Amino acid sequence: MFQYVALTLITVPILIYWYITRTFNYWKDRNVVTPKPVPLFGNWKEAALRRKNMNLVFEEIYKQFPNEKVVGVYRMTTPCLLIRDLDIIKHIMIKDFDLFPGRGVEFSQDGLGANLFHADGELWRALRNQFTPIFTSSKLKNMFHLITERGDKFIQHIESLKNPEHEIHRLIQKYTMSTIAACAFGLDLDNMDDKFPVLRRVDELVMAPSLALEIDMMFPGILKKLNSSLFPRFVSEFFSDLVEQIITERNKAPSNRKDFMDLLLELKNKGQVQTVKRNGELEKQTIAITDDIIAAQAFAFFIGGYETSAATMTFLLYQLALNPHIQDKLIAEIDEVITKHNGQVTYECLTDMVYLEQVFKETLRLFAIADLMRNVVVDYKVPGTDVVLKKGQTVLISPRGIHHDPNLYPEPEKFDPERFSVENSANRHPCAYLPFGIGPRQCIGIRFAQIQSRVGIVKLLTKFRVEPCNNTQRKMEYDPNRVIISPAGGIYMNLVKKS
Ligand code: HEM
Repeated sequence: MFQYVALTLITVPILIYWYITRTFNYWKDRNVVTPKPVPLFGNWKEAALRRKNMNLVFEEIYKQFPNEKVVGVYRMTTPCLLIRDLDIIKHIMIKDFDLFPGRGVEFSQDGLGANLFHADGELWRALRNQFTPIFTSSKLKNMFHLITERGDKFIQHIESLKNPEHEIHRLIQKYTMSTIAACAFGLDLDNMDDKFPVLRRVDELVMAPSLALEIDMMFPGILKKLNSSLFPRFVSEFFSDLVEQIITERNKAPSNRKDFMDLLLELKNKGQVQTVKRNGELEKQTIAITDDIIAAQAFAFFIGGYETSAATMTFLLYQLALNPHIQDKLIAEIDEVITKHNGQVTYECLTDMVYLEQVFKETLRLFAIADLMRNVVVDYKVPGTDVVLKKGQTVLISPRGIHHDPNLYPEPEKFDPERFSVENSANRHPCAYLPFGIGPRQCIGIRFAQIQSRVGIVKLLTKFRVEPCNNTQRKMEYDPNRVIISPAGGIYMNLVKKS
């Protein structure tokens, strides 16, 4: 008996150790450099233990291997490839996109898995075709007044606050939540203060990294096979109820707002969409539009549309507070352009604010929101290397790594909007700047984000200056409990009324 117990006590740990390290020679066997993996966690330990924001992990690996085109990494025990070389990135994201159409995190369609961000294959293609038209310039022009109205209410709200010191991230989330709610769903959040706490709860549940992500890394595809979700039921029910409520308000028919909700209603009433499959030959496919698919799109646009812009605007104001000369130049431009446009913030006047565009771009260079991922659907020889990706493997790109690379951006930690002047941007590689991704699967909301953020910033800087206060952090720390780059504990600063 004692012998059996002893044998078990020795063999079980050995077997477990073998299991949690069994893949760790994968890249070495293929002569691909790789940082040393840690049993079970691979190179993901700090992110898995929520000690580091996940987007910093690959930035650090990017920096660790300055002379490599590609670096082998392990997300938990699964080998993936981090691409550093910009020409290879161009191949994967643009030229060979048909071989890399998805992000490879698929999960239950009942649990919001059919949303545009996570959907793959034909469903993604069909949804992307349907939704691209709502982000054209003419559609955005029609929505512009909704955004400026929210901007005005945002300023009125700030003016009503007594203290000049604010945690700016939370404050701005209110503005971006209400703009996306108005433009996409026709909801007036400013008159529905009761909705904010629920939305904050949804935010906390969605933006916190889920353990399910690590499980999917260890056993790729398991969430889909087990019909599990990345998000708690509360979140999917919230979006189903929201859609139902708006559909009822619109009497089940598209209104003449022609907004995102109208498109969802059209889809729901059609019951199916056709998509053209590009598998060598053209082939039409029909995809049934279920209630879960409808709720999932509401989720994607709401989540995609508020926190990314809120974080970007927060970082932008933070940099202005730390760099008063840049703030002076920006305020001078804003005042001049608005005067030229008869004191009105119009769609056209935003295009005249050239320096604002540079400041916005430089903010997203320093504070790129998230890593990019693509999954390959065939065995694929990585151009310019001897590495062959196996069908189903994931490649990763670190926009933060690229944006902080001193070979691409000298003195990368310095906030310098001049990097984005026409002359300085002219010869830059198209993949050296990736805050919105690139290629057919890049962010669908780029234009909306630009307008939403710029209107908020312009409205704010016409009335206020931003200044550091005692609580303003000098060194930025990022929240390890958010899936995108977010300031840990928010950012405090003074909003000082201009004379
Ligand atoms: C500053 C603001 C924003 C940033 C930095 C940002 C960034 C990104 C990035 C990096 C991606 C992945 C791109 C890729 O894999 O190539 C993405 C995708 C996406 N974004 Fe944004 N985004 C922003 C605003 C928005 C807004 C306002 C919306 C909606 C109104 C939105 C909706 C989406 C959706 C639906 C996708 C998935 C697209 C697809 O897979 O086809 N985003 N975004």
